Amino acid sequence: MTKIEKIVLSYSGGLDTSIILKWLQETYGCEVVTFTADLGQGEELEPARAKAEMAGVKDIRIVDLREEFVSGFVFPMLRANALYEGQYLLGSSIARPLIARHLVGLAREVGADAVAHGATGKGNDQIRFELAALDPSIKVIAPWRQWNIRSRMQLLEYAEKHRIPVPSDKRGEAPFSIDANLLHTSTEGKSLENPAEVAPDHVYQRTVDPVDAPDTPEIITVGFERGDPVSVNGKAMTPAALLTELNGLGGRHGVGRLDLVENRFIGMKSRGIYETPGGTILLAAHRGIESITLDRAAAHLKDEIMPRYAELIYNGFWFAPEREMLQALIDHSQAFVSGEVTLRLYKGSASVISRASPCSLYSDDLVTFEESTIAFDHHDAEGFIRLNGLRLRSWAARNGR
Ligand code: ARG
Repeated sequence: MTKIEKIVLSYSGGLDTSIILKWLQETYGCEVVTFTADLGQGEELEPARAKAEMAGVKDIRIVDLREEFVSGFVFPMLRANALYEGQYLLGSSIARPLIARHLVGLAREVGADAVAHGATGKGNDQIRFELAALDPSIKVIAPWRQWNIRSRMQLLEYAEKHRIPVPSDKRGEAPFSIDANLLHTSTEGKSLENPAEVAPDHVYQRTVDPVDAPDTPEIITVGFERGDPVSVNGKAMTPAALLTELNGLGGRHGVGRLDLVENRFIGMKSRGIYETPGGTILLAAHRGIESITLDRAAAHLKDEIMPRYAELIYNGFWFAPEREMLQALIDHSQAFVSGEVTLRLYKGSASVISRASPCSLYSDDLVTFEESTIAFDHHDAEGFIRLNGLRLRSWAARNGR
């Protein structure tokens, strides 16, 4: 093993990465620089600084990546209406490539020869990190795959032995495995590992139970320009501010809860609880504005490639040529996706109730049941149907129907 001189650790200040910090210092006996990204996880990041200081870290970096996260990753993904396995809005998946790139960037800046992350050997996140950390001169250290800690129980024992404070949730229990950012909160582990068991109420962090949501619906508008949301209720906002605002509105109305069993890239099924209030509103709103601004074949082509695009993001292939090619196609489709969508938030749902655009393809004159001024000859429909039915008639006759 070549000697490692300096490591940049992706550090949240939580239990796992605090233990990893200690373990790296002991195992490699070298300097560890901590990198903490503010992705809008909603936690104070100063405690992470204090903990790193206590652990003897000299170089502590805390960087606000919220705007870059939303404008450079979440919004491009939203343009595709991306959902993994029909339901998951990819909140953790889309954050990893960004963190990994910054981690490697910092490693170069401080002359480190390795980066380290706290993702386990069973998850998707290790793949996403490492498929984005592509500098061959920088090694990736994944302690969960190297040390002989094999379970959360053993992790807690290690923490006790090294006097690392173990956080507990409000109920005094060991916390779930949680990953949070501006797009979502994901909760896994403990009792959730049994998919036959109903998730306890206290897993939910940023949404109220729809049953307890206000009895009066709330009407909101979202403005779009070229496929990206730019305003809420007529007020222009930066990407991160806009998503924060929608998280608040959606959370209050219980929008965006998901209890899902998904197929991990690494091979097993896993069960998680997701809360994506703002993202759920934005998906509905984006589909709403696309419904009047996209041509039919363009919209259907987008829908065909969407599962493929979502799977690339889920599997960690953000920095891959095929993802960039699909992105170019998706982005190209968005040139006229501008206008305003009105939604009603009510007891867990975000429903589009109206949409308007200066670039609309919708023609009330064309579709109307009343008399129309546009040249549409009803007789044309007869021939249209007859020719579409030509082969169906041959087929039905041959089959004796
Ligand atoms: N299963 C989700 C994914 O692969 C979330 C993973 C991270 N979440 C967590 N609670 N540790 O994207």
